[in-house]
Amino acid sequence: MKRMKWLWLFVLLGFLLAACTDDEAVVKKAVKEPVAAEADEPLKIGFAMDTLKEERWVKDRNLFRQAVESHGVRVEITAANGDDARQIAQAEEMIQKGIDLLVIVPHNAEATAAIVHKAHKAGIKVIAYDRLVKNAEIDLYVSFDNEKVGEIQAEAMLAKVPKGNYVFIGGAPTDNNAHLLKKGVFKVLQPAIDRGDIRIVYDQWTEDWAPENAFANMSEALETNGNRIDAVIAANDATAGGAVEALKVQGLDGEIPVAGQDAELAAVQRIVSGTQTMTVYKPIQTLSERVAALAVHLAKGNEFSAIDSINNGKSEVPSVLLEPVAVDEGNIRETVIADGFHTEADVYGGD
Ligand code: GAL
Repeated sequence: MKRMKWLWLFVLLGFLLAACTDDEAVVKKAVKEPVAAEADEPLKIGFAMDTLKEERWVKDRNLFRQAVESHGVRVEITAANGDDARQIAQAEEMIQKGIDLLVIVPHNAEATAAIVHKAHKAGIKVIAYDRLVKNAEIDLYVSFDNEKVGEIQAEAMLAKVPKGNYVFIGGAPTDNNAHLLKKGVFKVLQPAIDRGDIRIVYDQWTEDWAPENAFANMSEALETNGNRIDAVIAANDATAGGAVEALKVQGLDGEIPVAGQDAELAAVQRIVSGTQTMTVYKPIQTLSERVAALAVHLAKGNEFSAIDSINNGKSEVPSVLLEPVAVDEGNIRETVIADGFHTEADVYGGD
């Protein structure tokens, strides 16, 4: 009998020990190799956007999500509505919650450097999407050649208005793209300025790329120059729209050539109706797919060496720069409609 008791005791002890080791093993395994547990979860990319205010950013968001998910990778997207503190907080939260790589469209090129530092401290690489982050060791910058955007605008306007008074409606001074674009515009205009063929009679940044600020700038340009304006270069279609509204007040819309950027639907419709001369189309599908593929590639721990680089005040940032395309009334079908960026019906009306 006594012996039977000892036997049961041993069996019971055995069970307890086995149960104990399994939990511990799981916990130990989980603690010791958290990767193991996460390895089963697909990678996750964080996309910290500035805004969805302009038409293009809605396309960027949707196309980027599709592209990342097509790699079997998860994506979390935030938009800060032009608020720096909110963008930093949103990125911080994604970093804390756990992402494998951060893609960012900075509202303010300088302020977002703080996010890059935080991401790197957490061992997370950062890709700057379309807009450069200044003064931080960015891992990769992918955008269109923004200087070229300005060159294309200026070349189109000089071809149409070789002599006369020019107005430059710049973009947001917090956005590095606005500075690159302006550099491209003036690189092309300078010889004509030096020859005295053209005069820059107004040159202002537009706070937050806001159409209402562009309207105010253009109204001021018209007033201070007695409406003697011969050409307008606006840094994007939202600001071009504001400028055209100001021209309309003076009954000058359709009289004075206007250049824009982004191939927004309203701008392409203005080109068809004659109140805007041209815009610069940037195939967002190409950009979003390129960034998604590179983000997944880097998030998997792979290396990537870019052909180009841009100095952001801290380092030579490896860069991929895509080609922008000039669009005017002569090639709308071959460009934005052929790419499915807009439909024939949306641009020209009808069914
Ligand atoms: C720029 C971008 C443009 C433009 C603008 C306003 O950085 O390159 O396409 O739309 O922002 O959001």
